[in-house]
Amino acid sequence: TGSKQLTVFDTEEELAVSLAKYTAGLSDKFTRERGAFTVVLSGGSLIKALRKLTESPYLDSVEWSKWHVFWVDERVVKKDHPDSNYKLALDGFLSKVPVPPNQIYAINDTLPPEGAADDYEARLKQLVWDHVIKVVPTSGLPCFDLMLLGMGPDGHVASLFPGHPLLKETQKWVTHITDSPKPPPERITFTFPIINASAYVAMVVTGSGKAGAVHKALSGGENTGYTDRLPVEMVELDQGEFTWFTDKAAVSM
Ligand code: 6PG
Repeated sequence: TGSKQLTVFDTEEELAVSLAKYTAGLSDKFTRERGAFTVVLSGGSLIKALRKLTESPYLDSVEWSKWHVFWVDERVVKKDHPDSNYKLALDGFLSKVPVPPNQIYAINDTLPPEGAADDYEARLKQLVWDHVIKVVPTSGLPCFDLMLLGMGPDGHVASLFPGHPLLKETQKWVTHITDSPKPPPERITFTFPIINASAYVAMVVTGSGKAGAVHKALSGGENTGYTDRLPVEMVELDQGEFTWFTDKAAVSM
């Protein structure tokens, strides 16, 4: 199994500085090793936490032309809708850095949601075939270089919510959910097998609203009032390196 690390910053500002350095470091490593860097984004506060990458020195030093950008989850709305994770990432991050537009893989917003999930999975398979995304030889699963994840106050990651049957999905890489407790209810999401096949995962969690779920995840669930395993606790990398990026408020319990 993979390794785990916890980093705690005094402020969100310091976290953002460190996250930029970490991401740029992995970009250099994979660009050197394989001539490509596959990055998976989530929605929410994560995008703002990436802001330092759009500034000096990273704006000029990162090999943006080698980036291939994906989404771990998306809301079933049009790409220009205020709820769209694609729009959030484009406005807050991707429009400010020179990643080639044809290497930004948005989830198709013109298909019905089930079809869009299948379409995204098929595109991932094609990119594995084309050696853009690495593959885990033993399982055939895609191995993304870096997944940048957030966690909700209830311990959800991607659109995988506590107690939801999708937590047990083993076959599909990408699937569709119609009953998300966080609005909007219809979403498309990666499943645990492909999250856990990643080479690196950064779990970016700030603020006191997350302290309960962080406590449960870090303490193995004792005396926290939660009964079931939280989705965030199911991020157990097969081989990769998992790093928590938190601030003091998030670990205050
Ligand atoms: C989404 C996100 C989701 C997010 C968490 C944390 O579509 O809602 O991808 O998984 O990362 O809900 O969001 P915050 O960091 O904003 O709390």
